[in-house]
Amino acid sequence: MRIDIVTIFPNFFDVLDLSLLGKAKDAGKITVNIHDLRDYATDSHKTVDDTPYGGGPGMVMKPDVWGLALDAIFAEVDLSKTVLVIPSPAGEVFKQSIAAELAEVENIIFACGRYEGIDQRVFDWAATKATTRALSLGDYVLNGGEVAVVAMVEAIARLRPGFMGNSESVAQDSHQDALLDYPAYTKPASWRGFDVPEVLLSGNHAAIDKWRREQQIELTQKIRPDLLADS
Ligand code: ADE
Repeated sequence: MRIDIVTIFPNFFDVLDLSLLGKAKDAGKITVNIHDLRDYATDSHKTVDDTPYGGGPGMVMKPDVWGLALDAIFAEVDLSKTVLVIPSPAGEVFKQSIAAELAEVENIIFACGRYEGIDQRVFDWAATKATTRALSLGDYVLNGGEVAVVAMVEAIARLRPGFMGNSESVAQDSHQDALLDYPAYTKPASWRGFDVPEVLLSGNHAAIDKWRREQQIELTQKIRPDLLADS
């Protein structure tokens, strides 16, 4: 899988070198290319934004600069196997099922906007070239797409075969089957007056599975009833 990220904060993505994702990169399972949008600016000030037509607060990212950045990446990939993701609070909410869809894609390009967003024509033009999806991390506003992209890359990459040490732990994740995960415990069996539930010490695997499933349903009903309604 090849991932390209266009941003005005390339160092932000140093975090992707850490942990499992760094190992997957080192092993060549995932290639991540970070592109500095300012490299595509054409003036000496490296300007990437301008005032909005029609007035209003903030600045809008320039279509000409974004166009050159995307031209360069588009020229290197098979566009029929590419999805362009634009993180935006106005997008479809990113969830596990979308992570699973994107984990099957050969090339993903993330276009991180800042300020008041990217000129709309960049999306309209890009959509004529490749599948384009605006995705939101959740119903809140971030300063830009970078934080959202780190979260999305991690959620997608860990679904790739061979990425996690233990593929069973992916299959058992919260949200993988639209239920929240059951609570987990380790030694000691008693800690600060709190005991591990008896059943987990019983060695009775059928009873343990049943208890875990009940916990999942109870927790989901209490914390995220919307997930049960959706399924
Ligand atoms: N950019 C700003 N807010 C965002 C959000 N909630 N999700 C994705 N990208 C964003």
